[in-house]
Amino acid sequence: MDFRHQISSADALSGLSCDALVLIVTGESVDPTLDAPLASALSDALAQGDLTLKAGKSLYLHRPAGVRAARVVFAVAGAASAKAFKAAVAGAINLVKNSGAKHVAIGLAGSGMLGDAQAEAIVTAVRDSTYLYRHTKPSAPAASSIAKVSVLCSKADAKAVQQGIARGHAIGAGVALARECANRPANHCTPTDLAEQAKKLGKDYGLKVEVLDRKACEKLGMGSFLAVAQGSDEPPRFIVARYDGAAKTQPPVVLVGKGITFDTGGISLKPGAEMDEMKFDMGGAASVLGTLRAIAELKPKLNLVCVIPSCDNMPSGKAVKPGDVVTSMSGQTIEILNTDAEGRLILCDALTYAERFKPAVVVDVATLTGACVVALGHHHSGLFTADDKVAAQMLAASQAGLDPCWRMPLDEEYDDGLKSNFADVANIGGRPGGAITAAMFLRRFTAKYPWAHLDIAGTAWKSGAAKGATGRPVPLLTHFVLAQQG
Ligand code: BES
Ligand code: MN
Ligand code: ZN
Repeated sequence: MDFRHQISSADALSGLSCDALVLIVTGESVDPTLDAPLASALSDALAQGDLTLKAGKSLYLHRPAGVRAARVVFAVAGAASAKAFKAAVAGAINLVKNSGAKHVAIGLAGSGMLGDAQAEAIVTAVRDSTYLYRHTKPSAPAASSIAKVSVLCSKADAKAVQQGIARGHAIGAGVALARECANRPANHCTPTDLAEQAKKLGKDYGLKVEVLDRKACEKLGMGSFLAVAQGSDEPPRFIVARYDGAAKTQPPVVLVGKGITFDTGGISLKPGAEMDEMKFDMGGAASVLGTLRAIAELKPKLNLVCVIPSCDNMPSGKAVKPGDVVTSMSGQTIEILNTDAEGRLILCDALTYAERFKPAVVVDVATLTGACVVALGHHHSGLFTADDKVAAQMLAASQAGLDPCWRMPLDEEYDDGLKSNFADVANIGGRPGGAITAAMFLRRFTAKYPWAHLDIAGTAWKSGAAKGATGRPVPLLTHFVLAQQG
């Protein structure tokens, strides 16, 4: 799909050459600068009650009189914010994506400013609503016919819109990659497959990608990661990929993604209901790969390292057992009281591994706890950090990317539950504040650098009829990484 800006004005929209014209309505009445044929179609629809100016409403018109485009969609945004534009465009694209329209032009139903944030939102909305999972479903409907998207803007806005389009395009492709990886079932997305995805990115964008196998991890002393991996016949992979956009001396941003390709719970087996959704337990890893793709495409002047510990969490005769004590790469011993709290066990070794990069900041991303879903539901990801500066940057990035997160507490007091009589730390606390105690566990391995943790258990995928990966938090992470530029 090709995205570009196109300079046009409200009074020339009727003559515009395209297959579908999507017009975003922001005001509380028909904009007087809108071209007569379109303005009369819009006022007529409003007068007839076929459309109301309430955010989220839209109207499809086929060959309206006096308009060159065969299809017109009025999409009511309510406000002029990027968030409102994103929702409006997503709705409008759903109406034309299976119509046969190849060239879609998207602009305002009148005059008004279009900034980079709005352009980015328009592009990500188009990408999000045209994504289709096909990998294991050959009977899926044909991919959308949309091949070209023009974002209509004034000459004065062109530069900002161009920047927004570039960012939206990169983020949209990163989100699509993350969704695709996470949607693939565990027998089609093994740790080895994830490593192949990383290598492919490396080839496409000239990145350094290193994949450590079980032996290499043993040598490094990753006793915690390997304890989770030992229950599965599927070989584990520890993936390290780097984008070098600045001098070697510049400390990198490090992203760490939980890559559990399937989480049965291990010997602390999960109940059967909805267990299939545990194929999404590599959503953190998928979002890190998606972010890497977005950054590699945008080429900012900074260094980025992505670290992905990946394995299955399976019960077997070789599996780790409740009560087993393992030695992490940091040297701290861990009593594994519940084998289903495996995410933190693979992440802690990755967080220790990250020390070697002398990072400017480390962010780990994980579908870590059901408790986070209970606390925040499916709208906000959980943000945990003891560093107020990093917290502010993450929250700003989450706003810029329309990818909400909410800061959670991380006080020392929550550490009590992790005490063990048999090791330096236990891998679970009690049920109360489960997302926080999980973060407190990780915190013990992050003393050497500024650090934040995102719990995306509630936001990485949707359940029910629309079951599937969301690609979150690629937009948040991409904005965060971009903001670390000099
Ligand atoms: N992958 C799960 C977390 C999860 C649960 C994500 C539900 C999305 C939906 C994680 O490995 C896990 O099993 N966590 C346990 C931790 C508990 C044993 C302390 C949980 O949340 O139940
Ligand atoms: Mn688990
Ligand atoms: Zn898990």
